[in-house]
Amino acid sequence: MARVIAIASGKGGAGKTTVTANLGICLSRIGKKVLLIDADIAMANLSLILDMKTSPMTLHDVLLGEVRPNDAIYDGPEGIHFIPSGLSLDNYKRVDSERLSSVISELNSDYDFILLDAAAGIEKNVLSALSASNETLLVVMPTSPSIADALKTKLVAQKLGSKVIGFVLNFVLNEKGEITGQEISNMLELPCYGALSSDEEIRRSFMLQHPLPISVRKKDSKATKEFEKIASRLTGLKIEEKAVVKKGFFSRLLGKLRFKK
Ligand SMILES: Nc1ncnc2c1ncn2[C@@H]1O[C@H](COP(=O)(O)OP(=O)(O)OP(=O)(O)O)[C@@H](O)[C@H]1O
Ligand SMILES: [Mg+2]
Repeated sequence: MARVIAIASGKGGAGKTTVTANLGICLSRIGKKVLLIDADIAMANLSLILDMKTSPMTLHDVLLGEVRPNDAIYDGPEGIHFIPSGLSLDNYKRVDSERLSSVISELNSDYDFILLDAAAGIEKNVLSALSASNETLLVVMPTSPSIADALKTKLVAQKLGSKVIGFVLNFVLNEKGEITGQEISNMLELPCYGALSSDEEIRRSFMLQHPLPISVRKKDSKATKEFEKIASRLTGLKIEEKAVVKKGFFSRLLGKLRFKK
């Protein structure tokens, strides 16, 4: 059975698609069978970072029951498989994202990891991705809005039965006064799987005429090494789960966000 992991953030633009693609490639590189699913049903762009401009069959068709899941799987770089989402707004309106769980259960036995690139926010499509997953990995920027949104996403994921395993810190500037990974770990009460700097080469992934994730384009880069570290941690290396919630703005926020029993 595959580990089905939703890559979510709450906040838009935190790096979910970037992390999904690079992590998928690094997991594949260490011998895992990996399927990436673009679960951003409204604003699909996983296929863009994988340089796939057109795809005859998409997740839309699968969710509409018009295509079998296996027929919407495409080959990506370094042995990964992926299911793109559709670009048609008409189909998007007709799609029932709640069918994602049953789609995944049909594919589960063929993979070690199924990564779901979730949309931003906590609308229905995001809830479907979180419900369809067993685990959630958050992508967080070192800013208070991003942390607050990650906290909400964590609570929603837990409510939906997805184990929130930790977070990836993205867009680190290494500036004085910046919120650190350890501080975010304390606030979210989650381990940090890795930290990526704000990096021109990562940003370029979506800008090239033939885009590809940095882990394919620049194998020796610092960012690629970090994605490889995150992949190996995901496959078993233990991460310290120690987390102490500090008193202050975020613990008050956490109190406000807790669901009433
Ligand atoms: N560490 C980084 N350094 C520089 N640019 C980055 C970094 N991570 C992501 N980006 C860039 O930021 C933009 C947003 O990244 P991405 O699309 O992965 O985020 P997202 O969370 O999937 O966004 P959305 O919420 O719109 O789905 C992209 O242009 C991407 O190339
Ligand atoms: Mg995205």
